[in-house]
Amino acid sequence: MTEEIAVVPGDGIGREVTPVAVDVLDAVGDFEFVHAEAGDEVADEQGTPLPAETREAVETADATLFGAAGETAADVILPLRAAVDSFVNVRPARTYPGVDAVQPETDLVFLRENTEGVYAGHEAELADGVTTCTRVVTEEASRRLAEYACEYAPEGFTVAHKANVMRVTDGLFRETVENVAAEHGVETDAALMDALAMHLVENPADYDVVVCPNLAGDVLSDLAAGLVGGLGLLPSANIGPERGVFEPVHGTAPDIAGDGVANPAAAVLSAAMLLEFLGHDAAGERVRSAVEDVLEDGPTTPDLGGEATTRAVGDAIREVVR
Ligand code: NAI
Ligand code: MG
Repeated sequence: MTEEIAVVPGDGIGREVTPVAVDVLDAVGDFEFVHAEAGDEVADEQGTPLPAETREAVETADATLFGAAGETAADVILPLRAAVDSFVNVRPARTYPGVDAVQPETDLVFLRENTEGVYAGHEAELADGVTTCTRVVTEEASRRLAEYACEYAPEGFTVAHKANVMRVTDGLFRETVENVAAEHGVETDAALMDALAMHLVENPADYDVVVCPNLAGDVLSDLAAGLVGGLGLLPSANIGPERGVFEPVHGTAPDIAGDGVANPAAAVLSAAMLLEFLGHDAAGERVRSAVEDVLEDGPTTPDLGGEATTRAVGDAIREVVR
């Protein structure tokens, strides 16, 4: 049966890198692509950044490839994640031969809680100049994340938290994740997220898989992007029980959007994660290794010191994949 993939390029460089990822998917499999719009541009035209037909396309497709949205990012990506009931955001951050990195030894995967924490959407202005944000942590969400982590990293993982200050919320997070790990016989080590940030910069090789509350996972994975050579290299997967949304970690990059020089690696690596999610492990590996080859031998885009266009890099990746 032909699998259906919803393609939502969004805005800015999302419109430049997503077609490259689609071409690569097309080269390795037999998929039906359903194109849908989301983001600033469609908000201007239709009054909403996430039209109902886009949401439906994502809810019914086997998987979704998303680019990036601009100012409306939160109004697009949060509902898209919810549309597939995504409870974990998987963010690998590793270095590649041929790419200059601050810390060449980095090979990390962040498993970020994807539904709650301070991103649960409970913000309020209590009075003029007085605002609050309610942090939500539930046993259920922490448990789902932990179950996934045990399957993903049976050899053990680090639990990032700040339970010494947020005793109730991160206390529950830490305790739940540790209990689930113990039930599965999986070893964990707990790390205060602020100290962890420093250790990740100094000794990233000491860490492997890091399980994080929502905000911590957002910040620490961007920090890791800085260690490995920039946002143009980081893919991510929003995993739900049946469906997933796959997207580069980066945004719309307004500073280079329209120039045709965005690095498509993050989008193509996100497509590799999509392939693996759908069970096409060999195809996913082929795509990943093609990206590695091109990162090492070129051509590369300006963010990596090269002069190539997005298209030229995409063509090179496709050439290797074939
Ligand atoms: P950004 O990721 O768009 O850009 C940060 C820096 O990294 C820029 O200098 C950019 O040129 C560079 N960069 C990012 N991706 C690159 C690539 N593939 N190749 C080469 N260079 C790349 O983050 P920024 O500037 O904070 O946000 C810009 C817009 O994107 C904002 O409107 C923000 O709301 C949105 N955004 C959307 C996200 C999403 O849709 N998931 C995530 C992050 C930001
Ligand atoms: Mg972020």
